[in-house]
Amino acid sequence: MSEGKTAVYPGSFDPVTSGHYDIIVRASRLFERLIVAVAPNPAKQPLFTVEERMKMLQEVCASLPNVHVECFEGLLVDFAVERGAQVIVKGLRAVSDFEYELQMALTNRRLRPQVETIFMMTNSEYVFLSSSIVKEIARLGGNVQGLVPKAVEPYLYRKFGRQVPNQEANRG
Ligand code: PNS
Repeated sequence: MSEGKTAVYPGSFDPVTSGHYDIIVRASRLFERLIVAVAPNPAKQPLFTVEERMKMLQEVCASLPNVHVECFEGLLVDFAVERGAQVIVKGLRAVSDFEYELQMALTNRRLRPQVETIFMMTNSEYVFLSSSIVKEIARLGGNVQGLVPKAVEPYLYRKFGRQVPNQEANRG
């Protein structure tokens, strides 16, 4: 673990997926403190409010004592500096993510050179996964089990007016 180092893991988290959670767990082992930072990102017309997204993340991260959930507006690097974070963590799924993420990382370095961006490879199990895919599946009546952390499932079903499946019946 990087002693005394704080990292920020930013995103829309609309909602947090199993791929995000995998990055959160692994990053939380590398840094003394990890701030999961929810960006409003109104351009993306989110399904969940910032408050709902934070609540889901708080439930999902409840067993990770060095993980803190916050939201921010404005520039990510300014938020990182305000919180005393030295590192921004980003997850990379496939080469298709790389170009945009490189542009962001270089822009952020230009704005605040003291904040380093590091990339973590998504677990191969989740390479195909995104919040948009999860929302599409939930909207069209599909099963999102395993694609999102267990605590997120009821939020998704409720949002689309679906009955929350009986947890007992789903086991095994
Ligand atoms: O989960 P997402 O939607 O891919 O996350 C994108 C996010 C929130 C990380 C990115 O849009 C962001 O950093 N927004 C804050 C504004 C900012 O600092 N932009 C980069 C410099 S122009």
